[in-house]
Amino acid sequence: MKMTEIETRGLVLLGCGKMGSAMLAGWLDGGLPASSVWVLDPHPSAWLQATGVHINTDLPASPALVLIAVKPQMMGEALPKLQALGNGETLFVSVAAGTSIASFEVVLGKETPIIRAMPNTPAAIGRGITALIGNAKSTDANLDMAEGLLAAVGQVVRLDSEAQMDAVTGVSGSGPAYVFHLIETLAAAGASQGLPADLAMKLAKATVAGAGALAEAADEDPSQLRVNVTSPNGTTQAALDVLMQPEGGFPDLLNRAVAAATNRSQELSRG
Ligand SMILES: NC(=O)c1ccc[n+]([C@@H]2O[C@H](COP(=O)([O-])OP(=O)(O)OC[C@H]3O[C@@H](n4cnc5c(N)ncnc54)[C@H](OP(=O)(O)O)[C@@H]3O)[C@@H](O)[C@H]2O)c1
Repeated sequence: MKMTEIETRGLVLLGCGKMGSAMLAGWLDGGLPASSVWVLDPHPSAWLQATGVHINTDLPASPALVLIAVKPQMMGEALPKLQALGNGETLFVSVAAGTSIASFEVVLGKETPIIRAMPNTPAAIGRGITALIGNAKSTDANLDMAEGLLAAVGQVVRLDSEAQMDAVTGVSGSGPAYVFHLIETLAAAGASQGLPADLAMKLAKATVAGAGALAEAADEDPSQLRVNVTSPNGTTQAALDVLMQPEGGFPDLLNRAVAAATNRSQELSRG
């Protein structure tokens, strides 16, 4: 991670809840000195206080970057505190779901470099994936800096347009919850077939985690991996005949689920 500019000019974190602390933990582990970080949060956790970062103190005059990690509904109250840093040399990066770049420009000014990012909860264990898009004022150097910071909690991809952010939210932002539900329901189905509930849950968690890791590590794409474990008329084939049915199967269900999340993200962005 290229930290020199951040180390000298400082980094401000607005909101240090689940996502803010996951990122801060990644930066500190990656070697960012605590003395270069200023956190604004009304109720700093014991963990945060033990990190040695500046908490709720005066901010540097021109920090390299402000990372916004408050809930969208707290934005109206939290953001005006940072208005003085707008239209300057400070890059703003927001991870707030459904909050458009335009709404930040209204408060911070159109000359402010702003990057919108959508991370997901596996960031808490350094296995997230974050999508980025910048406004007209953000430079390649700004995007590189944001990517370097967000890489501390997982993979980073760049988008071509902000409009893609709603579908990204529907796939990877909200996606971990779909996978958690898959684990729950796979375990419950195992219990229905007579397995003890804790054994079924252990099998379901390890299967989803292992298959996910294999899908990322393998040279073959997931369709081929599926074919590789499906012998004709075997057990997997029997299950896939149910899951892959055109109506009410996985393709149909996930299509409808992702469309619902994407539509909701669009509605939220419209305010
Ligand atoms: N968690 C995710 O997986 C995820 C994924 C993608 C995007 N995001 C985005 O990340 C942002 C944070 O989500 P989160 O899950 O980390 O929420 P969270 O755990 O509730 O964290 C928000 C933090 O901001 C603090 N806060 C509230 N008002 C503030 C103010 N005026 N000034 C400074 N800090 C303030 C909250 O303090 P109190 O709790 O004391 O009010 C809390 O510590 C959201 O905008 C969300 O859309 C989250």
